[in-house]
Amino acid sequence: MKNFSNFPKKKRQQQPLVLITAYSYSFAKIIDDIEQIDAILVGDSVANVEYGYNSTLPITFEQMLNHVSIVSRTCVNKPVIADMPFLSYGVSLKDSLSNCGRMVKEGGANAVKIEGGKIFGELIYKLTSIGVPVMGHIGLKPQHYNTMGGYKIAGKTDDEIEELIDDAITLEQAGAFSLILECVTEEASKAITSSVSIPTIGIGSGKYCDGQICVLNDLLGLSSYIPSFMEKYVDLAALSKEAIEKWADDVVGGKFPKNAYHKS
Ligand code: KIV
Repeated sequence: MKNFSNFPKKKRQQQPLVLITAYSYSFAKIIDDIEQIDAILVGDSVANVEYGYNSTLPITFEQMLNHVSIVSRTCVNKPVIADMPFLSYGVSLKDSLSNCGRMVKEGGANAVKIEGGKIFGELIYKLTSIGVPVMGHIGLKPQHYNTMGGYKIAGKTDDEIEELIDDAITLEQAGAFSLILECVTEEASKAITSSVSIPTIGIGSGKYCDGQICVLNDLLGLSSYIPSFMEKYVDLAALSKEAIEKWADDVVGGKFPKNAYHKS
């Protein structure tokens, strides 16, 4: 079911929404068959976890479009959300609309995600009016690393909470179908979640959100840095190293290949 009909339904029924990132064919294929997963985000976190950059800023529109089209054509069951990379939106309305449209038209995405608050109300309104569903993203905004002076928890003061609620309401009114809340205090996520009727999806924002999202590589133990709020569910880096070392030892020790597979 490649649509977002679960989102309002699960919020109404108070069932948690489950989202995860994916960037490649192999993992998109695995995730697409997992019943509990409601949607897949091709996050610009790919810049950190697959390209090895120390921020999300360098990833280009064309690189993101490539990952989005791989994941979108792989997933036959789950809707795919394309994260809009830094400067691919927000510079001019015309270019923003055109780039978001390309993620749907060329990349096959079912929606786009935009980092930022009420300043993007008009863009979100226009996108949803022309048929592009939009997920908002407020709280810690990694693309604003330089203006925020680092990665900081959001919603620590009453003023900050008020501003976040204001952003959330504006994005809902503009037509966003859900909101990522990244690294906001539990007090703030609780207040935001009860102020809007669209679902909030938390990452590092505690238990009061309507759903949770995580970065796939963090869960699998493949990221070189795992945020403190996340748990490693498997150490795939260690398991992979072990398997590769075993194969290399077998080659060196003459144990691989075992047979002549190609008979003449
Ligand atoms: O890029 C990403 O993976 C994200 C998540 C943090 C939600 O935006």
